[in-house]
Amino acid sequence: MTKLLQFRRADSPDAPCADRRGPNMLDFIAHDLMNDLGAAQMCLAALEANEPALRLGASADFLRVLQQSLTHMEQFVADLRDSRQMELDRFVVSPTAAVSPAALLSAAVGAAKRYADGRNLVLVCAPGLPPVRADQPRVQRVFANLIGNAVKFTDFQGTISVGARPGKTPDEVIFFVRDDGEGMTDADQRRIFEPGWRTCDSGRRGTGLGLMICRGIVEAHGGQISVTSRPKLGSTFAFTLPSAAAIQQTDRAAE
Ligand SMILES: Nc1ncnc2c1ncn2[C@@H]1O[C@H](COP(=O)(O)OP(=O)(O)O)[C@@H](O)[C@H]1O
Ligand SMILES: [Mg+2]
Repeated sequence: MTKLLQFRRADSPDAPCADRRGPNMLDFIAHDLMNDLGAAQMCLAALEANEPALRLGASADFLRVLQQSLTHMEQFVADLRDSRQMELDRFVVSPTAAVSPAALLSAAVGAAKRYADGRNLVLVCAPGLPPVRADQPRVQRVFANLIGNAVKFTDFQGTISVGARPGKTPDEVIFFVRDDGEGMTDADQRRIFEPGWRTCDSGRRGTGLGLMICRGIVEAHGGQISVTSRPKLGSTFAFTLPSAAAIQQTDRAAE
């Protein structure tokens, strides 16, 4: 069982444009949750009142917005819970199962259909990949965060590819989430894994904690996470997980 030992705080002097750390954090949380609650309540009220628009077939739209608002709130609260557990050194990662990369990907893409909202989700799995050693619910949180970000920063009808390919050595598999959305500058890429940090023009909702949590989960598996991106062209987040065979060898060597 691996436990994350440290929750790293970014205390660098050059404050980010949209800093969600510190005392303002509660303002952001209240604001974002109220937005989602307001949208959900509006949809429920419309459905309850059986408004004329519903009779023209708009109920599917209301249900879609309701579903998205609830998913935002769920991810938002999960980010807060996970980051708090990391801060208290109580965030446990147990990469005990040997799982096929294809199974991880299809679970991730299946769950993402709930909130992809018009984006094309494409699953790309290279053949012959070895099983990886993973804490499946934690790895699904990584995918949910990366795909959730890709949805946020990609236009309606954009494409999001979720896939796996061989690593640099047979001991690892590379997983990736690629979008053709807004992308970001080199300077932003260096900062986005810090807690509470968001790029200047990311006016959209979120805690700014998701990528920090992703990094914590991936590193607790013995993997690494990185981003490559170009403004206006899109972003690719990639992370590695060790193959189950590689972990077995390490375990045997330690005995
Ligand atoms: N796919 C992406 N495309 C463009 N920018 C991104 C993408 N993913 C993350 N970012 C940038 O990194 C920031 C931090 O992401 P994250 O830690 O998930 O926080 P949040 O989603 O709550 O803003 C985002 O606010 C955004 O500025
Ligand atoms: Mg996020």
